[in-house]
Amino acid sequence: MTIDKDYQELRDMAAKFADKEVGPLAAQIDLDCSIPASLIEKLKEMGFFGIFIPEEFGGAGLDYTSYAIIMEELSRGCASTGVLISAHNSLCNYPILTFGTDEQKKKYLPKLASGEHLGCFCLSEPNAGSDAGSLTTFAEDKGDHFEISGTKNFITNGREANIAVLFAKTEKTKDYKGMSAFIIETDWEGFNVQKCEDKLGIKGSSTAQISLEKVKVPKENILGTAGKGFRIGLETLDGGRIGIASQALGIGEAAFRYAKKYASERIQFGKPISDLQAIQFMLADMSTKLAASKLLILHASQLKDEGVNYSKESAQAKLFASEAAMWITTKAIQVCGGAGYCKEYPVERHFRDAKITEIYEGTSEIQRLVIAHSELSS
Ligand code: CAA
Repeated sequence: MTIDKDYQELRDMAAKFADKEVGPLAAQIDLDCSIPASLIEKLKEMGFFGIFIPEEFGGAGLDYTSYAIIMEELSRGCASTGVLISAHNSLCNYPILTFGTDEQKKKYLPKLASGEHLGCFCLSEPNAGSDAGSLTTFAEDKGDHFEISGTKNFITNGREANIAVLFAKTEKTKDYKGMSAFIIETDWEGFNVQKCEDKLGIKGSSTAQISLEKVKVPKENILGTAGKGFRIGLETLDGGRIGIASQALGIGEAAFRYAKKYASERIQFGKPISDLQAIQFMLADMSTKLAASKLLILHASQLKDEGVNYSKESAQAKLFASEAAMWITTKAIQVCGGAGYCKEYPVERHFRDAKITEIYEGTSEIQRLVIAHSELSS
């Protein structure tokens, strides 16, 4: 599998941006638990808020492979910045672009593409995480509008988002078949951020609990067909998982590069520790896991770009890349020893940031379920 010249140029551009504008801020973003407005402005200028939105709606009009490459490089610089862009693009822009009416696309995509509006995805609830189909948020049909009430949990970008793609039951007695998707403007009355989680990692990215109290939603804001919300959610997550796999790859790459540099500078027993096979073997395994992650991500994103079913492949990419990132960041601390464990150096942050990639947008166990179901049904 080869990466053609256009992709290489895109990677060089994203890498340069990550090295110059993002990476140097990452430690402070982790400490402050927020991303500075100046960086958000630069992300807008780069077109990163509308990566695969077509140019007619103000986006960059790139494909999903480009999106994966940008996500990897941004996350190598800062995992919190990476997930802000990932949740916005793949969990909000994508479903509106794919399932929205012409009117919805015209109304919502331009501001999402420019970054004037930030997006989020409200699926999970206190009692509906992996079992997404069991959610209880209810959208009551009031004739000319819906009235939505419920609670949403662990919403990335939830603190700042202007637009939410939100899932609710429109038929209480049905299982996932009674679920529908909606486009919600977060300044509508009754939509409230209840709290933001204090987390282990990706501390610059907000993770909010949101309450909905009789939020009045116009009929025209239903996304796709009523009753098809579960499908819309899962199809959206198929794409999102490529973004999270790329985030994991970027985090792993950052930890690997630091460990490699540290090993060649750290002198013990009269020579750099990179001369020791014990260290070399760890570096070799890190490098191999990164290469394998990259190929799995490229495979999944190319299938998506070709319009071929890629659920299994995106689950494989996310499963492998996230577990690889956790392994690599753990070994990076080991290579760096005491320095790896201290906040003065970046690898402990990479280790903390890596963990979430095994959890959000479907845990590793859910990815295994998706892969097994696909294998057993083919
Ligand atoms: N795309 C489209 N439709 C799909 C699908 C897919 N990838 N996978 C399944 N479906 C459809 C099936 O075809 C079936 O439809 P029909 O009844 O019409 O045939 C329907 O969905 C139900 O399928 P299953 O019986 O397989 O569903 P299930 O209840 O067993 O659950 C699951 C499947 C894979 C476990 C799913 O619930 C799942 O992915 N759960 C994890 C949810 C998740 O990733 N949550 C993360 C939340 S987002 C987030 O992290 C927040 C953030 O801000 C980052």
